[in-house]
Amino acid sequence: MAEGRETVFTIEATPLSFGAGAVADAGWHLQRLGVRRALLVTDPGVVAAGHVESVRDSITAAGIELTVYDQVRIEPTLTSIEQAAEFAREARPDGFVSVGGGSVIDTAKVACLLASHPGSAMDFINQPIGAGRQPPGPLLPHLAIPTTAGTGSEATTVAVLDLPELKVKTGISHRYLRPAQGIVDPELTATLGPEVTASTGLDVVCHAAESYISRPFDARPRPASPDQRPPYQGSNPVADVWSARALELGGQYLRRAVADPADLEARGMMMLAASMAGVGFGSAGVHIPHACAYPIAGLKHAYQPPGYPTDHPFVPHGHSVIVTAPAAFNFTYEADPARHHHAARLLGAAPGPGAGEHGPPDGGPTGGGAGPAGTGLPKGPAALPGVLIELMRAVGAPNGIAELGYAEADIPDLVEGAFKQQRLLAIAPREPTPAALSQILHDSLRNW
Ligand SMILES: [Fe+2]
Repeated sequence: MAEGRETVFTIEATPLSFGAGAVADAGWHLQRLGVRRALLVTDPGVVAAGHVESVRDSITAAGIELTVYDQVRIEPTLTSIEQAAEFAREARPDGFVSVGGGSVIDTAKVACLLASHPGSAMDFINQPIGAGRQPPGPLLPHLAIPTTAGTGSEATTVAVLDLPELKVKTGISHRYLRPAQGIVDPELTATLGPEVTASTGLDVVCHAAESYISRPFDARPRPASPDQRPPYQGSNPVADVWSARALELGGQYLRRAVADPADLEARGMMMLAASMAGVGFGSAGVHIPHACAYPIAGLKHAYQPPGYPTDHPFVPHGHSVIVTAPAAFNFTYEADPARHHHAARLLGAAPGPGAGEHGPPDGGPTGGGAGPAGTGLPKGPAALPGVLIELMRAVGAPNGIAELGYAEADIPDLVEGAFKQQRLLAIAPREPTPAALSQILHDSLRNW
């Protein structure tokens, strides 16, 4: 049965509780998952924002013993993750709770893996940087509670970490890393500054757009066994539903969420979009912008992001991803113009009440053509990049990799770093050769 093209795709999603006040259910969920002794993983910023207390109250009220590890590093490194894992092994919990952004949830995923099975982080890190070992069995239950609307990490199988000594970002990805339950509570994001909201929101939009236009799952060769089916399978009819809706929500609500931190509706919709995009890209996957983001974030540590509560310079993940997205989507356009037009239409739908009514009548990706009459969206390779750049400018995104500290002379190193991410590049809809990546990065020095 290993002959020919893939005919199967899989959708797995984290069960989610969504809504204002949902964190109050944390204890109930842990109880339901059989947890008696939980380790709560978080970072000092989340503690200072007061989010940990409400979670702690709910958990202890359910009669569950709780230990807190609050030393997660934003943009985790191998060292910071190993410290968390060491703490976890000593605390010997029978379940994990993570409260924070992608860095916290990713750290908790790896700590949970290393507390559940023998081995070091390097054993499980993707090849060629790590040994790429697969976890031998399911992990302890992990309840993920995001406090930013971005990574969608609560919904995915991936943990990303920085290896500064190797100047590379890499990760661990396996279905067992997917949290057992997520709680998405919009009230938890109310303390985020506009820069963080913009960066994480643009990451959501990228997840959705990259997944939506990714190489179809049935363009891959059929794997010899289900074990060898990659976590990132390429676009498929079910992932498309999640990605398309996340794109639409991003277009409608990100500007509002950035402009007014008190706009709980817009923040809630962006959190929902983050989780939806997480389900979509957890199945379909991300490719060129995320592959380029690894070296953009990993190569130089010279950029001090405004509005971020950290003492070390770094490129926020959303910034590192969005800067190459316009050029990448320009490059991928010819692989499937109809899909690119449709993504542009979804993202560019007029914000505000009733916007959904202007959506495409068929809702399908192969409807073809440009936007419905009256939207004024151009057709052609520039359609999706154009809508994206409009959104980037509206929310104060950096203008290209030059603003993040890179010059023309850095492009060969960036290409080398991006080209290593074959796990991602394999599902790009058009083959990104080193020459193509070089052109994309060159075109991304400035986005407008
Ligand atoms: Fe991302």
